[in-house]
Amino acid sequence: MATILIVDDELSMREFLSILLEKQGHSAVTAPNGREAVKILQTREIHLVISDIRMPEMGGLELLENIKRKNQFIPVLMITAFASPEDAVLAMKGGAYDYITKPFKVDEIKQVIESALTGSEGQTAQKNSPSFSGGFAGIIGESPKMIKIYELIKRIAPTHANVLINGESGTGKELVAQAIHNNSRVAGNHFVPITCNAIPETLFESELFGHVKGSFTGATANKIGLFELANDGTAFLDEIGELTPMVQTKLLRVLQEREFKRVGDTKISKINVRIISATNRKLEEEIEAKRFREDLYYRLAVVPILMPPLRERKEDIPLLVNHFLHKYAKTLGRSLQRLSTEAMEILQKYNFPGNVRELENIIERGIALSPSETIQPESLSLPLRRHDDLVARQSSSPFLSELGSEEDLYEEGLESVMTHFEKKLIELALKKADFSKMRAADLLKISFRSLRYKIQKYHIT
Ligand SMILES: Nc1ncnc2c1ncn2[C@@H]1O[C@H](COP(=O)(O)OP(=O)(O)OP(=O)(O)O)[C@@H](O)[C@H]1O
Ligand SMILES: [Mg+2]
Repeated sequence: MATILIVDDELSMREFLSILLEKQGHSAVTAPNGREAVKILQTREIHLVISDIRMPEMGGLELLENIKRKNQFIPVLMITAFASPEDAVLAMKGGAYDYITKPFKVDEIKQVIESALTGSEGQTAQKNSPSFSGGFAGIIGESPKMIKIYELIKRIAPTHANVLINGESGTGKELVAQAIHNNSRVAGNHFVPITCNAIPETLFESELFGHVKGSFTGATANKIGLFELANDGTAFLDEIGELTPMVQTKLLRVLQEREFKRVGDTKISKINVRIISATNRKLEEEIEAKRFREDLYYRLAVVPILMPPLRERKEDIPLLVNHFLHKYAKTLGRSLQRLSTEAMEILQKYNFPGNVRELENIIERGIALSPSETIQPESLSLPLRRHDDLVARQSSSPFLSELGSEEDLYEEGLESVMTHFEKKLIELALKKADFSKMRAADLLKISFRSLRYKIQKYHIT
């Protein structure tokens, strides 16, 4: 039995909800707008707030902000109109526990209220203890873009909002999912990663929702599904963009109804799972191409997070390098190594199509290959081709294509390719500098003397 505050400017809605809640054994308190609600919250112990968004005086979002600013750990359910999904997004970003769309079904609203009250957020509301101590799952980076990510994680972790993490491969999507879980009210429960593209379509239901013995050939025993395992915790749906249309439809139904059946079972079970999903596909494009259901997207992407690629936050490279040097010195059982200044400069210039994962591999290999304590550029084994791509993009000059295919480059060998490359770049720089050697040397970031030497060596005229 809980005390629930209903905030709505429509009298009929306040009455309807009061009757519903009292039938459920709760006691209801009402307010016609946010301002009145704030007054009530100051004087009475409230376990749950259900609030409309658009109201005169003070609207629902402002009320929500007010509650969260005071660190009142009271779950807030927002009532939004079906026609304005953007309200739902704002509500979840602001820290609402969940939202209900008008017009709503009585069963749906009962279910959401019970899960808000029995979930750990509701429990905390009754204990009133703040909690944010999960750390960031070892995510490294201090660039402004990463700081924004940490702030977002902090803000949304304690809510019940489903999160969609988008970003290129190797940008740390799984780490972010883990960090959200670690800082959520369900941190003590399971975090269950589910790699969507690793499960064949025919087994998807049974893997996710479980099955009973004998329900199909091969079902030799009862089996708990991954969703059940994640109940009261977090399910991490990785590679969500790979779901087939049939599976998308099934998943959507479970998310809408908050209940599922094991394959071959008649019993319906309730679920209360927070879904964090991730993909490196652009789902908006997938929706456009009718490969991904838009309604499922809105359920999953209540809070979207976009992970920045490493090339857009290069200031994090030294920190990451240092982190991986320590990590692999430990795992490879070697003494700590360092990177030479030149090696670090090369990394700073590289564009990392494989992002942090690629940097990690480069460092691991560097440690293994380096003959000395200081890792030199030779031990970094950056893919030549990709390095070329970078230079090509930066100077947007066509001369690299003259070098031929990757196969041709191996044929020629590194020394000869580099020589050719060096000569070409010097010629370009001279041209760009109107043949002033002084300015060309500046462009190339080498001394005038060494430019003059190279010009002679390569017989550049
Ligand atoms: N900011 C970071 N700090 C430390 N390690 C990181 C960071 N980002 C990524 N990593 C490391 O890089 C590797 C890839 O990260 P993760 O698996 O989270 O990427 P992802 O975005 O899920 O990639 P994919 O789309 O390929 O699955 C992991 O080993 C992870 O520990
Ligand atoms: Mg991943």
